[in-house]
Order: sequence, then structure tokens, then C-alpha cells
Amino acid sequence: MPGITLGDTVPNLEVETTHKNFKLHDYFADSWTVLFSHPGDFTPVCTTELGAMGKYAHEFEQRGVKLLGLSCDDIQSHKDWIPDIEAFTPGSKVTYPIIADPNKEIIPQLNMIDPIENGPSRALHVVGPDCKIKLSFLYPSTTGRNMDEVLRALDSLLMAAKHKNKIATPVNWKPDEPVVISPAVSDEEAKKLFPQGFKTAKLPSKKGYLRVADVS
Ligand code: BEZ
Repeated sequence: MPGITLGDTVPNLEVETTHKNFKLHDYFADSWTVLFSHPGDFTPVCTTELGAMGKYAHEFEQRGVKLLGLSCDDIQSHKDWIPDIEAFTPGSKVTYPIIADPNKEIIPQLNMIDPIENGPSRALHVVGPDCKIKLSFLYPSTTGRNMDEVLRALDSLLMAAKHKNKIATPVNWKPDEPVVISPAVSDEEAKKLFPQGFKTAKLPSKKGYLRVADVS
């Protein structure tokens, strides 16, 4: 995946959106943002994805997270498309802005290109309040994303950030489930960080690296 990736600062591009024009860093300031791209308007998979995002918008809002879409067409086309998106997914409201990129000039700068097709992809970056990329997905145009997974991964990022990356979340983790303690944390530090205690898995290697804590 050439171009900006985890830990990189998203370029402070001036973008035209269905709400207003702004610089990306002004939008990202002081909160987390899910920035997600689409190959084009009036296409079937994109219509389902943007509808799902509209339906989940309140979940992101509850977490203080902003949504920002991008599709490779112009603003008028986006505005004409929104009624279709909302009609196809009952309960969906496209309350988030959608960036216009009719000439496909923005997607390379945001590393939202499918390198096999050398064209638009279904990319998604979770951007932190520091304007740096914390997580990226890159899907081809033929595969719609799973918005439950976007939310689950976001919850993991927020949980790890809350605990200053001293914890991590195991496979298929969901909020309210136990977390694991980072290998960089010693048992002594872990005792201070988790006064409620933690469990060390007994493994054949007898290495005490898999430590589980309940932080809910
Ligand atoms: C779609 O959104 O359905 C789509 C867009 C581009 C290529 C293939 C599918």
C-alpha cells in the first residue's frame, strides 16, 4: 500500500464537500474521524455502504467520532445520489459530509487507490485528533465493507488510546470483554495499572506473556 499509512499525518488538503469546503485538519481537529472512500456515485455497493454509514451515524456520534465520506464524482452528483442512498437503507440519514473528487486527484494523496486496478478503492482511514492515521482498510471495489467491523476496530483503538496503549484487544474483541496487557508492560507495572488484578494464562511454554484484565 504505497503512500500515507499508519502513523503518517494526513495531508491538509482543501476539500469540497456536500456540507461546505474545509481543510482536512480543521475537520479532524479535537476528535477522531473515519474517512472512507468510494469508487463512484450511483453504483450499487457504494449505495449500500453509504446507507449503512448513515444508519450507524449515531453510534459514531455517541463515541465523539466524525464521519467523512469521499466519492469520485462532483458535488451535484453526490446531492442527487443521497435520496437513493437514504431510500435504499431505511432509517439511514446521510448527515456526514461527502468529499467530491471527480478528477480522482485527491484519492492518490490520501492513499485510497487500488493498486491492482490503478483506480479508486474502498479505502478507510481512522484518523486521530493529531491528524495521524491510526488504522487503514483497503478493499477492492467489488467487496463492500462491514460497518460492524469498522465500529469494533474503532472501539479497540479508543480503548487502547484510553489506556495509553498499555493494553491491546484480542481476536474478535468487543467492548465490555476483557483486554490483554501489552508485552511492553512488566508484571510490576501491570499490578499498579490493574489493581483489580489480571490473569496470566498457563501455557505449555510457561512464558507469562498472555495476561488478561477486565477493565469494564
Ligand atoms: C459498486 O459500488 O457497486 C461498484 C463500484 C465500482 C466497481 C464495482 C462496483
